[in-house]
Amino acid sequence: MAVRPEKFTMRSIARVAFVLIAYSASRACARFSFNTQDLVLLVNDSATLTLTLTDNVPGNTTLILSTNHKDLLTTNISKIEVTNSTGPNVWPIELFGHDAGHDLLKVDAYPASIKSSDAFVRVTLQHSNELALFSVVVGWIYFVAWSISFYPQMYENWRRKSVVGLNFDFIALNLIGFMLYSMFNVGLWIPEIEKDYSARNPRGLNPVQLNDIFFSIHAVFATLITVAQCYFYEKGDQQVSRTAKSIMSFYGLLIAILLVLVYLQKIVWLDFLYYCSYIKLTITLIKYIPQAVMNYKRKSTIGWSIGNIFLDFTGGLLSILQMIINAYNYNDWASVFGDPTKFGLGLLSVIFDILFFLQHYVFYSGVNYAEFENCNVVEVENDEVTNSEEHTKPTDKPDDQIC
Ligand SMILES: *[C@@H]1O[C@H](CO)[C@@H](O)[C@H](O)[C@H]1NC(C)=O
Ligand SMILES: *[C@@H]1O[C@H](CO)[C@@H](O)[C@H](O)[C@H]1NC(C)=O
Ligand SMILES: *[C@@H]1O[C@H](CO)[C@@H](O)[C@H](O)[C@H]1NC(C)=O
Ligand SMILES: *[C@@H]1O[C@H](CO)[C@@H](O)[C@H](O)[C@H]1NC(C)=O
Repeated sequence: MAVRPEKFTMRSIARVAFVLIAYSASRACARFSFNTQDLVLLVNDSATLTLTLTDNVPGNTTLILSTNHKDLLTTNISKIEVTNSTGPNVWPIELFGHDAGHDLLKVDAYPASIKSSDAFVRVTLQHSNELALFSVVVGWIYFVAWSISFYPQMYENWRRKSVVGLNFDFIALNLIGFMLYSMFNVGLWIPEIEKDYSARNPRGLNPVQLNDIFFSIHAVFATLITVAQCYFYEKGDQQVSRTAKSIMSFYGLLIAILLVLVYLQKIVWLDFLYYCSYIKLTITLIKYIPQAVMNYKRKSTIGWSIGNIFLDFTGGLLSILQMIINAYNYNDWASVFGDPTKFGLGLLSVIFDILFFLQHYVFYSGVNYAEFENCNVVEVENDEVTNSEEHTKPTDKPDDQIC
């Protein structure tokens, strides 16, 4: 999810604290910094930054300013000579944005007598500020849609005092998937692991945002409540299938192997978390299959909340919309069509939702309606047809729970 503002605030606070500590710890060492590390610039627009040198340096030093993509971003100065007797230690620098995208402005000192690793600016070049705002709004809406999507099913179970029709494989896979996803999200905010991440992506932002953490932990708790409902309410002869148990045992084995590898120091925790997130992706890939098959076998979607699907569908469509807005605004189509995990999985869950809509409203809508009617008939005419064998189907006990 790419909802940014509060993240930047958190980051800035952390950064200010870090800079203060680093500053007091290493006053003696001359270093550079820009007045900002993240900058948003419009295409065909310019901005002024300042580069500050905190201390004088002995001897002459040449500073080279560079950007990764000259076609995206240029500066009016590309070289600064610092002499021992240098007067100003603050240089204003003008940046020009030429095309949308992400770029990095950095400073290298020759000879490397000045610490310049913090002297960089991540520049986001966008076509439109309005679209960027719209993208944030869309991000919040799908965050809310996905977060509340757990409740219609819970309500449905509570109303019927039954979970007949809700597939247990789906619930089990969902629980494991969200646990792994929470582990990944929380893990990337653990300082030691975050340090590994920054070491690998020196100027990158942590990919996990605060609302990702909230979403995933909330999802675990919501799914746990649904699991509890499966214990307390009428469930017929439903249970987690042998296939699902085998798949989950396989995941368990993989995780155990990964833990051993961490213990043997073959991989670090960051790798472990990434592998867990890949496992979570495979779960997203398969989790809806058992429910779809179950609906097909029962020729009914009774017990499977269509409200849940409606919210999931809304969230999925909006997340795809956000990816497309961002792809246009940051000229970054590769991340949409080049990253099958993000776009492909979003699209796949939308396709599953459409299948569930078809099952609910088209394929089995007549069946759903007829069974509902049937129940009503039984209820209304109960006194007159108490002995009627046709209305009481002892072999088909679970379906009697529909009403
Ligand atoms: C930016 O400027 C160039 C040349 O002046 C122009 O061709 C292009 O359409 C402009 N782009 C935007 C997004 O304004
Ligand atoms: C640099 O300047 C300081 C005083 O500003 C002076 O004491 C020192 O000798 C100078 N060093 C060089 C290498 O010129
Ligand atoms: C440093 O630069 C100044 C001015 O460009 C020059 O006069 C001086 O000789 C240089 N010093 C060294 C040690 O290169
Ligand atoms: C670069 O831009 C800054 C800010 O506008 C300005 O102060 C500076 O003189 C410019 N430098 C050059 C070499 O044009």
